[in-house]
Amino acid sequence: MQTIVITGGTDGIGRALALHQLRRGAHVVAVGSTSAKGEALLAEADALSASGRVDFLRADLTSVGAAQDLASAIEDTCARVDGLVLCAQRYRLFGPRTVTAEGFEHSFALAYLSRYVLGHRLRSVLESAPCPVIVNVGTPGVPLGRVHWDDLQLTRRYGGTRATLQSFRANDLLGAAFPELYPDTPIRYIGYNPGVVSTGMPRHLPQPLRALVTAVFTVAATSADKAAAPIAALLETPPDAAFSAYRGTRRLPLDTRPFRKEDALRLHTLTRGLVDAISPAPREE
Ligand SMILES: NC(=O)c1ccc[n+]([C@@H]2O[C@H](COP(=O)([O-])OP(=O)(O)OC[C@H]3O[C@@H](n4cnc5c(N)ncnc54)[C@H](OP(=O)(O)O)[C@@H]3O)[C@@H](O)[C@H]2O)c1
Repeated sequence: MQTIVITGGTDGIGRALALHQLRRGAHVVAVGSTSAKGEALLAEADALSASGRVDFLRADLTSVGAAQDLASAIEDTCARVDGLVLCAQRYRLFGPRTVTAEGFEHSFALAYLSRYVLGHRLRSVLESAPCPVIVNVGTPGVPLGRVHWDDLQLTRRYGGTRATLQSFRANDLLGAAFPELYPDTPIRYIGYNPGVVSTGMPRHLPQPLRALVTAVFTVAATSADKAAAPIAALLETPPDAAFSAYRGTRRLPLDTRPFRKEDALRLHTLTRGLVDAISPAPREE
Protein backbone atom coordinates (compact mmCIF):
# COMPACT_ATOMS: atom_id res chain seq x y z
CA MET A 1 0.00 0.00 0.00
CA GLN A 2 1.35 3.43 -0.90
CA THR A 3 1.91 6.01 1.85
CA ILE A 4 1.35 9.65 0.96
CA VAL A 5 2.35 12.35 3.48
CA ILE A 6 0.55 15.67 2.94
CA THR A 7 1.38 18.79 4.93
CA GLY A 8 -1.63 21.07 4.96
CA GLY A 9 -3.59 17.86 4.32
CA THR A 10 -6.51 18.98 6.46
CA ASP A 11 -7.80 21.84 4.33
CA GLY A 12 -7.96 23.19 0.79
CA ILE A 13 -5.96 21.45 -1.92
CA GLY A 14 -4.14 19.20 0.54
CA ARG A 15 -7.39 17.91 2.04
CA ALA A 16 -8.90 17.27 -1.41
CA LEU A 17 -5.77 15.32 -2.35
CA ALA A 18 -5.91 13.38 0.95
CA LEU A 19 -9.49 12.27 0.25
CA HIS A 20 -8.58 11.42 -3.36
CA GLN A 21 -5.72 9.23 -2.15
CA LEU A 22 -7.92 7.54 0.46
CA ARG A 23 -10.51 6.73 -2.21
CA ARG A 24 -7.84 5.05 -4.34
CA GLY A 25 -6.64 2.91 -1.43
CA ALA A 26 -3.50 4.72 -0.23
CA HIS A 27 -2.41 5.28 3.35
CA VAL A 28 -2.50 9.02 4.03
CA VAL A 29 -0.61 10.93 6.71
CA ALA A 30 -2.16 14.40 6.92
CA VAL A 31 -0.41 17.19 8.80
CA GLY A 32 -1.94 20.42 10.08
CA SER A 33 -1.77 22.66 13.11
CA THR A 34 -5.46 22.50 14.13
CA SER A 35 -6.77 19.38 15.84
CA ALA A 36 -10.39 20.09 14.86
CA LYS A 37 -9.50 20.03 11.16
CA GLY A 38 -7.60 16.79 11.65
CA GLU A 39 -10.55 15.22 13.45
CA ALA A 40 -12.88 16.34 10.64
CA LEU A 41 -10.60 14.61 8.12
CA LEU A 42 -10.60 11.44 10.22
CA ALA A 43 -14.42 11.52 10.26
CA GLU A 44 -14.48 11.91 6.46
CA ALA A 45 -12.07 8.99 6.14
CA ASP A 46 -14.40 6.95 8.35
CA ALA A 47 -17.29 7.75 6.02
CA LEU A 48 -15.15 6.38 3.15
CA SER A 49 -14.46 3.22 5.21
CA ALA A 50 -10.80 4.28 5.17
CA SER A 51 -10.28 5.02 8.86
CA GLY A 52 -7.57 2.33 9.11
CA ARG A 53 -5.54 4.05 6.37
CA VAL A 54 -5.38 7.63 7.65
CA ASP A 55 -3.30 9.33 10.30
CA PHE A 56 -3.50 12.93 11.40
CA LEU A 57 -0.32 14.39 12.85
CA ARG A 58 -0.65 17.76 14.52
CA ALA A 59 2.38 19.99 14.05
CA ASP A 60 2.98 23.71 13.96
CA LEU A 61 5.27 23.90 10.96
CA THR A 62 6.34 27.46 11.72
CA SER A 63 8.83 25.69 13.99
CA VAL A 64 11.93 24.01 12.57
CA GLY A 65 12.07 21.85 15.70
CA ALA A 66 8.47 20.74 15.13
CA ALA A 67 9.25 19.92 11.48
CA GLN A 68 12.25 17.86 12.64
CA ASP A 69 10.08 16.07 15.24
CA LEU A 70 7.45 15.43 12.57
CA ALA A 71 10.09 13.90 10.28
CA SER A 72 11.24 11.67 13.15
CA ALA A 73 7.66 10.57 13.88
CA ILE A 74 7.12 9.70 10.20
CA GLU A 75 10.44 7.84 9.99
CA ASP A 76 9.49 5.87 13.13
CA THR A 77 6.06 4.81 11.84
CA CYS A 78 6.37 4.55 8.05
CA ALA A 79 8.72 2.00 6.51
CA ARG A 80 8.44 3.88 3.24
CA VAL A 81 6.89 7.08 1.94
CA ASP A 82 5.83 7.06 -1.71
CA GLY A 83 4.76 10.67 -1.91
CA LEU A 84 5.46 13.83 0.10
CA VAL A 85 3.15 16.71 -0.80
CA LEU A 86 3.99 20.09 0.70
CA CYS A 87 0.91 22.32 1.00
CA ALA A 88 1.07 23.89 4.48
CA GLN A 89 0.74 27.63 4.10
CA ARG A 90 -0.80 30.60 5.86
CA TYR A 91 -0.55 33.90 4.01
CA ARG A 92 0.29 36.96 6.09
CA LEU A 93 0.05 39.63 3.46
CA PHE A 94 -0.65 42.42 5.93
CA GLY A 95 0.31 43.41 9.41
CA PRO A 96 3.65 43.73 11.11
CA ARG A 97 6.59 41.40 10.68
CA THR A 98 6.26 38.45 13.02
CA VAL A 99 9.07 36.22 14.17
CA THR A 100 8.82 32.63 15.35
CA ALA A 101 10.16 31.50 18.72
CA GLU A 102 13.26 30.27 16.84
CA GLY A 103 13.84 33.73 15.39
CA PHE A 104 12.67 33.26 11.79
CA GLU A 105 10.32 35.50 9.85
CA HIS A 106 6.91 33.75 9.75
CA SER A 107 6.52 33.12 6.00
CA PHE A 108 10.14 32.08 5.61
CA ALA A 109 9.67 29.58 8.47
CA LEU A 110 6.31 28.07 7.54
CA ALA A 111 6.29 28.16 3.76
CA TYR A 112 9.98 27.52 3.12
CA LEU A 113 11.99 26.19 6.08
CA SER A 114 9.48 23.45 6.99
CA ARG A 115 9.54 22.25 3.37
CA TYR A 116 13.33 22.31 3.35
CA VAL A 117 13.50 20.25 6.56
CA LEU A 118 10.88 17.68 5.54
CA GLY A 119 12.20 17.14 2.01
CA HIS A 120 15.75 16.56 3.18
CA ARG A 121 14.94 14.67 6.39
CA LEU A 122 12.48 12.24 4.78
CA ARG A 123 14.81 11.36 1.92
CA SER A 124 15.69 7.91 3.24
CA VAL A 125 12.07 6.77 3.81
CA LEU A 126 11.20 8.18 0.40
CA GLU A 127 14.08 6.29 -1.16
CA SER A 128 12.63 3.08 0.32
CA ALA A 129 9.68 3.43 -2.08
CA PRO A 130 9.92 2.16 -5.67
CA CYS A 131 8.97 5.44 -7.33
CA PRO A 132 9.17 8.26 -4.76
CA VAL A 133 7.88 11.76 -5.48
CA ILE A 134 7.98 15.12 -3.69
CA VAL A 135 5.40 17.67 -4.85
CA ASN A 136 6.08 21.17 -3.53
CA VAL A 137 2.86 23.15 -4.11
CA GLY A 138 3.50 26.85 -4.61
CA THR A 139 3.66 29.28 -7.49
CA PRO A 140 6.44 28.28 -9.91
CA GLY A 141 6.12 30.20 -13.15
CA VAL A 142 4.87 33.38 -11.49
CA PRO A 143 7.44 36.11 -12.20
CA LEU A 144 7.01 37.92 -8.91
CA GLY A 145 9.24 38.27 -5.88
CA ARG A 146 12.83 37.30 -5.24
CA VAL A 147 15.15 35.97 -2.60
CA HIS A 148 16.57 38.82 -0.53
CA TRP A 149 20.07 37.41 -0.15
CA ASP A 150 21.37 40.14 2.12
CA ASP A 151 18.38 39.92 4.48
CA LEU A 152 16.56 36.58 4.27
CA GLN A 153 14.60 37.35 7.45
CA LEU A 154 13.49 40.71 6.00
CA THR A 155 14.52 42.66 9.09
CA ARG A 156 14.71 45.75 6.88
CA ARG A 157 11.90 46.84 4.51
CA TYR A 158 9.54 44.07 5.63
CA GLY A 159 6.25 43.64 3.79
CA GLY A 160 3.85 40.68 4.02
CA THR A 161 3.61 40.32 0.24
CA ARG A 162 7.38 40.60 -0.12
CA ALA A 163 7.82 37.84 2.50
CA THR A 164 5.21 35.59 0.88
CA LEU A 165 6.74 36.00 -2.57
CA GLN A 166 10.25 35.41 -1.22
CA SER A 167 9.06 32.09 0.26
CA PHE A 168 7.65 31.08 -3.14
CA ARG A 169 10.88 31.89 -4.97
CA ALA A 170 12.90 30.09 -2.27
CA ASN A 171 10.77 26.99 -2.91
CA ASP A 172 11.55 27.20 -6.65
CA LEU A 173 15.24 27.02 -5.69
CA LEU A 174 14.62 24.26 -3.13
CA GLY A 175 13.40 21.99 -5.91
CA ALA A 176 16.18 23.03 -8.28
CA ALA A 177 18.83 22.19 -5.66
CA PHE A 178 17.53 18.71 -4.85
CA PRO A 179 18.96 16.75 -7.83
CA GLU A 180 22.19 18.76 -7.64
CA LEU A 181 22.65 17.60 -4.05
CA TYR A 182 21.48 14.02 -4.60
CA PRO A 183 22.32 13.14 -8.21
CA ASP A 184 21.63 9.42 -7.65
CA THR A 185 18.35 9.72 -5.79
CA PRO A 186 15.31 8.04 -7.33
CA ILE A 187 13.13 10.84 -5.90
CA ARG A 188 11.32 12.94 -8.48
CA TYR A 189 11.01 16.50 -7.15
CA ILE A 190 8.16 18.53 -8.67
CA GLY A 191 7.41 22.21 -8.12
CA TYR A 192 3.70 22.62 -8.76
CA ASN A 193 1.53 25.71 -9.27
CA PRO A 194 -2.19 24.81 -9.10
CA GLY A 195 -3.43 28.17 -10.42
CA VAL A 196 -6.27 29.95 -8.64
CA VAL A 197 -8.09 27.45 -6.44
CA SER A 198 -11.12 28.02 -4.26
CA THR A 199 -9.97 27.11 -0.74
CA GLY A 200 -10.37 28.49 2.75
CA MET A 201 -7.32 30.68 2.20
CA PRO A 202 -9.34 33.97 2.13
CA ARG A 203 -10.61 33.25 5.67
CA HIS A 204 -7.24 34.43 6.92
CA LEU A 205 -7.21 37.71 4.99
CA PRO A 206 -8.43 41.01 6.46
CA GLN A 207 -11.52 42.73 5.09
CA PRO A 208 -12.17 44.11 2.48
CA LEU A 209 -9.56 41.88 0.77
CA ARG A 210 -11.29 38.77 2.15
CA ALA A 211 -14.55 39.70 0.40
CA LEU A 212 -12.72 40.58 -2.81
CA VAL A 213 -10.71 37.34 -2.96
CA THR A 214 -13.81 35.31 -2.05
CA ALA A 215 -15.66 36.96 -4.96
CA VAL A 216 -12.75 36.27 -7.35
CA PHE A 217 -12.67 32.67 -6.15
CA THR A 218 -16.41 32.34 -6.80
CA VAL A 219 -16.11 33.34 -10.46
CA ALA A 220 -12.56 32.45 -11.47
CA ALA A 221 -11.21 29.71 -9.26
CA THR A 222 -11.18 26.01 -9.84
CA SER A 223 -12.38 23.71 -7.06
CA ALA A 224 -9.93 22.05 -4.69
CA ASP A 225 -11.06 18.64 -5.97
CA LYS A 226 -10.24 19.61 -9.57
CA ALA A 227 -6.92 21.14 -8.50
CA ALA A 228 -5.95 17.95 -6.66
CA ALA A 229 -6.44 15.70 -9.70
CA PRO A 230 -3.28 16.71 -11.65
CA ILE A 231 -1.22 16.44 -8.46
CA ALA A 232 -2.55 12.91 -7.96
CA ALA A 233 -1.67 12.13 -11.59
CA LEU A 234 1.91 13.38 -11.07
CA LEU A 235 2.23 11.24 -7.93
CA GLU A 236 1.07 8.22 -9.88
CA THR A 237 3.13 8.86 -13.01
CA PRO A 238 5.94 11.32 -12.29
CA PRO A 239 8.08 12.69 -15.10
CA ASP A 240 11.46 11.08 -15.74
CA ALA A 241 13.36 14.26 -14.87
CA ALA A 242 14.78 14.49 -11.36
CA PHE A 243 13.34 18.01 -11.06
CA SER A 244 10.42 19.47 -12.98
CA ALA A 245 8.00 22.34 -12.54
CA TYR A 246 4.40 22.74 -13.65
CA ARG A 247 1.79 25.44 -13.81
CA GLY A 248 -1.40 23.39 -13.99
CA THR A 249 -0.68 20.73 -16.59
CA ARG A 250 1.87 22.91 -18.43
CA ARG A 251 5.50 21.98 -17.91
CA LEU A 252 7.69 25.00 -17.24
CA PRO A 253 11.14 25.58 -18.74
CA LEU A 254 13.89 25.28 -16.13
CA ASP A 255 16.55 27.35 -17.90
CA THR A 256 15.12 30.50 -16.36
CA ARG A 257 16.23 32.74 -13.51
CA PRO A 258 13.96 31.30 -10.76
CA PHE A 259 15.61 27.88 -11.07
CA ARG A 260 19.28 28.90 -11.44
CA LYS A 261 21.44 26.12 -10.03
CA GLU A 262 24.02 28.50 -8.53
CA ASP A 263 21.29 30.32 -6.63
CA ALA A 264 19.72 27.02 -5.59
CA LEU A 265 22.97 25.76 -4.08
CA ARG A 266 23.70 29.13 -2.49
CA LEU A 267 20.31 29.12 -0.77
CA HIS A 268 20.77 25.50 0.27
CA THR A 269 24.06 26.33 1.99
CA LEU A 270 22.59 29.34 3.78
CA THR A 271 19.52 27.36 4.85
CA ARG A 272 21.56 24.41 6.06
CA GLY A 273 23.39 26.80 8.40
CA LEU A 274 20.12 28.18 9.74
CA VAL A 275 18.58 24.76 10.29
CA ASP A 276 21.71 23.27 11.86
CA ALA A 277 21.72 26.08 14.41
CA ILE A 278 18.39 24.76 15.74
CA SER A 279 19.08 21.74 17.92
CA PRO A 280 16.50 19.00 17.48
CA ALA A 281 14.45 18.44 20.61
CA PRO A 282 15.52 15.31 22.52
CA ARG A 283 13.71 12.21 21.23
CA GLU A 284 11.13 10.80 23.68
CA GLU A 285 11.82 7.17 24.59
N1 LIG B 1 -5.48 28.41 -3.27
C1 LIG B 1 -4.82 28.96 -4.30
O1 LIG B 1 -5.40 29.69 -5.14
C2 LIG B 1 -3.36 28.68 -4.51
C3 LIG B 1 -2.70 29.21 -5.63
C4 LIG B 1 -1.34 28.95 -5.83
C5 LIG B 1 -0.66 28.17 -4.90
N2 LIG B 1 -1.31 27.69 -3.81
C6 LIG B 1 -0.53 26.89 -2.85
O2 LIG B 1 -1.20 25.67 -2.57
C7 LIG B 1 -0.91 25.25 -1.22
C8 LIG B 1 -2.20 24.94 -0.50
O3 LIG B 1 -2.99 26.13 -0.49
P1 LIG B 1 -4.52 26.11 -0.04
O4 LIG B 1 -5.17 27.29 -0.69
O5 LIG B 1 -5.07 24.75 -0.22
O6 LIG B 1 -4.37 26.44 1.53
P2 LIG B 1 -5.48 26.39 2.71
O7 LIG B 1 -6.80 25.96 2.21
O8 LIG B 1 -5.37 27.69 3.42
O9 LIG B 1 -4.89 25.21 3.64
C9 LIG B 1 -3.65 25.41 4.28
C10 LIG B 1 -3.26 24.16 5.02
O10 LIG B 1 -2.03 24.44 5.69
C11 LIG B 1 -2.15 24.11 7.09
N3 LIG B 1 -1.34 25.00 7.91
C12 LIG B 1 -1.43 26.34 8.00
N4 LIG B 1 -0.57 26.79 8.93
C13 LIG B 1 0.08 25.71 9.41
C14 LIG B 1 1.08 25.52 10.40
N5 LIG B 1 1.61 26.56 11.11
N6 LIG B 1 1.53 24.28 10.65
C15 LIG B 1 1.02 23.21 9.96
N7 LIG B 1 0.08 23.32 9.01
C16 LIG B 1 -0.39 24.57 8.75
C17 LIG B 1 -3.65 24.29 7.37
O11 LIG B 1 -4.07 23.56 8.51
P3 LIG B 1 -4.32 24.33 9.93
O12 LIG B 1 -5.17 25.51 9.62
O13 LIG B 1 -4.93 23.33 10.81
O14 LIG B 1 -2.95 24.67 10.38
C18 LIG B 1 -4.26 23.74 6.10
O15 LIG B 1 -4.35 22.33 6.19
C19 LIG B 1 -0.12 26.40 -0.59
O16 LIG B 1 1.24 26.10 -0.60
C20 LIG B 1 -0.40 27.58 -1.50
O17 LIG B 1 0.67 28.50 -1.53
C21 LIG B 1 -2.63 27.91 -3.58
